[in-house]
Amino acid sequence: MGPQVRMSGRGNSRQWLSNLMIIGGPILVCISLLLLFTLTPGPQPKAATTDSSCIISAEAKRSNLMETLKKIETSYFHILYPENIFVKSGATPEEIRQFFRPWDPTPASLKSKTDEANTLRAELIKLKINRTLLKLRERKAIYVAKQILLNNFGWAPFTKNYYTGDWMLGPDFFCWQPICDVFYNLNAVISAFKPRNVSDLRKLDHLFQQHNHTFDRYIDNLKLGVRTGFVRQIEACRAGIHDMHYLKYWNIFLYNESGKYSTPCHFEQRSVQRLVFLQ
Ligand SMILES: *[C@@H]1O[C@H](CO)[C@@H](O)[C@H](O)[C@H]1NC(C)=O
Ligand SMILES: *[C@@H]1O[C@H](CO)[C@@H](O)[C@H](O)[C@H]1NC(C)=O
Ligand SMILES: *[C@@H]1O[C@H](CO)[C@@H](O)[C@H](O)[C@H]1NC(C)=O
Ligand SMILES: *[C@@H]1O[C@H](CO)[C@@H](O)[C@H](O)[C@H]1NC(C)=O
Repeated sequence: MGPQVRMSGRGNSRQWLSNLMIIGGPILVCISLLLLFTLTPGPQPKAATTDSSCIISAEAKRSNLMETLKKIETSYFHILYPENIFVKSGATPEEIRQFFRPWDPTPASLKSKTDEANTLRAELIKLKINRTLLKLRERKAIYVAKQILLNNFGWAPFTKNYYTGDWMLGPDFFCWQPICDVFYNLNAVISAFKPRNVSDLRKLDHLFQQHNHTFDRYIDNLKLGVRTGFVRQIEACRAGIHDMHYLKYWNIFLYNESGKYSTPCHFEQRSVQRLVFLQ
């Protein structure tokens, strides 16, 4: 009897325990989950909204620095170097269709670009800015913008300054001249020009004509160089032609009009341009 009673007593307590487990278990889980959710800190507000380093400083606004940098950016992409429009931050296909055109080696165009770069640089230098009040990023932007404007709107100062006359020289050992990037640029935007109707098709035809003009005019520039005695040494000329043929326009050199363009290499220059414009 005694053991049985004890047994039943033990059985009762076991049942009580299992009841407690069945009923209390889920409750316990719920409570701990609730505690977990209420006590852990919620998702942090987005870094972008709290990170003050990207907010324009009062001094940059007051001194018109931001406006001037914006103007330089717009001038660069829309007017002077529309062949690079695709690296502009947030450029839409519409914007690309509206502004893109291949590099224009016409002497008058080279001259106006050089003059515009000089004007913008003078404008930037003229700003009355207390630099100690600027953010580090803004201070850097001033120096970089000045430098690329001095190089006539390019990180690589090749063929960019009209007054140096090197736009008559043809490509160099590394093929760093804009003529070497013409198809690279077209390759980057061609999907934005997918035609949907006849007028789109005409636009595309016009684009190809502009490319024809680019190469035609470039050859005329070389001829002008020859006429005026502004030429590279024969070794440098050979190296430049070699690069055009085998490095930049390989398939086109081999197969003429049926040659397919393939991207030769990447251009560090583009990422630098992004840096400059605070993107
Ligand atoms: C620039 O700002 C700093 C900090 O407010 C100030 O000490 C300094 O006098 C200012 N410099 C000029 C030239 O206004
Ligand atoms: C042709 O299609 C483009 C979009 O690709 C559109 O913007 C344009 O208005 C169209 N033109 C005509 C004449 O339908
Ligand atoms: C390219 O332009 C030249 C003259 O500017 C012209 O003679 C030639 O026919 C053009 N080529 C094509 C394929 O349109
Ligand atoms: C490409 O054009 C050049 C110059 O007209 C010619 O000499 C060459 O044979 C052509 N190559 C091919 C593959 O058609």
